[in-house]
Amino acid sequence: MGNSRLAGFYKQSIEERINQAANAMGLNSADLSAWSSGGIDHAAADHMIENVIGLHSMPVGLGLNFQINGRDVLVPMAIEEPSVVAGASFMAKLARSGGGFQTTTSEPLMIGQMQVINLANLHEAKFKLYEHKAELLAAADEIDPVLKKFGGGARDLEVRIIEDSPVGGFIVIHLIYDVRDAMGANAVNTACERLAARVEAITAGKVHLRILSNLADRRVARARCTIPVDALAFEDFSGETVRDGIIAAYAFAAVDPYRAATHNKGIMNGVDAVVIATGNDWRAIEAGAHAYAARSGKYTSLSQWGTNAQGDLVGSLEMPMAVGIIGGATKVHPAARAALKLIGVKTASELAEIIVAVGLAQNMAALRALATEGIQRGHMSLHARQVAIAAGASGDMIETIAAQMVAEKTVRSDRAEELLKSLGA
Ligand code: MEV
Repeated sequence: MGNSRLAGFYKQSIEERINQAANAMGLNSADLSAWSSGGIDHAAADHMIENVIGLHSMPVGLGLNFQINGRDVLVPMAIEEPSVVAGASFMAKLARSGGGFQTTTSEPLMIGQMQVINLANLHEAKFKLYEHKAELLAAADEIDPVLKKFGGGARDLEVRIIEDSPVGGFIVIHLIYDVRDAMGANAVNTACERLAARVEAITAGKVHLRILSNLADRRVARARCTIPVDALAFEDFSGETVRDGIIAAYAFAAVDPYRAATHNKGIMNGVDAVVIATGNDWRAIEAGAHAYAARSGKYTSLSQWGTNAQGDLVGSLEMPMAVGIIGGATKVHPAARAALKLIGVKTASELAEIIVAVGLAQNMAALRALATEGIQRGHMSLHARQVAIAAGASGDMIETIAAQMVAEKTVRSDRAEELLKSLGA
């Protein structure tokens, strides 16, 4: 791929942007045509869920400037909130001046849970299960021949004893499954369901729940970036002031769950936008992220910010990232297919790494704004345009009225209406 710094991109028409993005990735604009309609029609929707009554669209914006492990990437982001795409792109530009994002992933290991109840002796059941571990793993391994062909399959089996609960003691089996490029829910759920009879025979108990865990802490993605301190300076803010402001903002999230929830929401602004654009299950990613943030028993920040020996700003983010590039909406939704084409990944792990880099960039965008000029300024111009439209402005008048309201620092519907009248509309 060429360069992810597409100069003047925001000034172009949507058609020109599509052409430029397609060219940069060596694609035809036809490869990305799904975005002109939103991707699916009523008939397609009717095959996806029940009781379909229509479609719900969202804008797709392009995250620019991302360089991930030395590769330039254009990142489609589906989101309704202003400032997110611009914020991520701007931070990716700053990160680029420090070498871009360095990312890694663990193996794509998902956890399937089986709850075994009605056991006379929890410890005896646990030992028996371990005695049959090889046999259970071999059986689970045969369940998805396609995954097996691509190098996936059952990897491990762990048994946990829950001594006490509202219904007394029980056992939890964790089936660790390598799902390769799939999100993995189907493979893991099927494996757990199929093993149930054998587990009941071994333990003389009853297998109750059989379902994957969204706390995918064996399938994490990590991103790190270094921002040269001088690159952080803007307007009256020195690089050191911005750096220390970001670190102090991080410290707040590290110790306070009320702040950590909002801080992590900012990370998820970036993460979810890419997860949604690529047709992945964002509820699974949300659930995994927040459970991971609370894994120590106290909910905290998913990211960390500090300095290196040179005094540059260093950020890092590690979180569960159960995304796939085969199966489900990633394959059947034309807009998701366009996103995967543009992003140009060959494995789910690569996609996971890009997503976590976008999350880190987004987090930095929020902290930088909060630690300096506040969050509202960046939001204002798009918000002002929406207020102008709601007041009845159209065409060039939208921009004129919005710019006037921003200049006056009065973005309100009554002022928009006044301006509209004064312009003779
Ligand atoms: C708004 O969508 C996200 C922020 O609240 C994140 C944060 O506070 O870090 C700005």
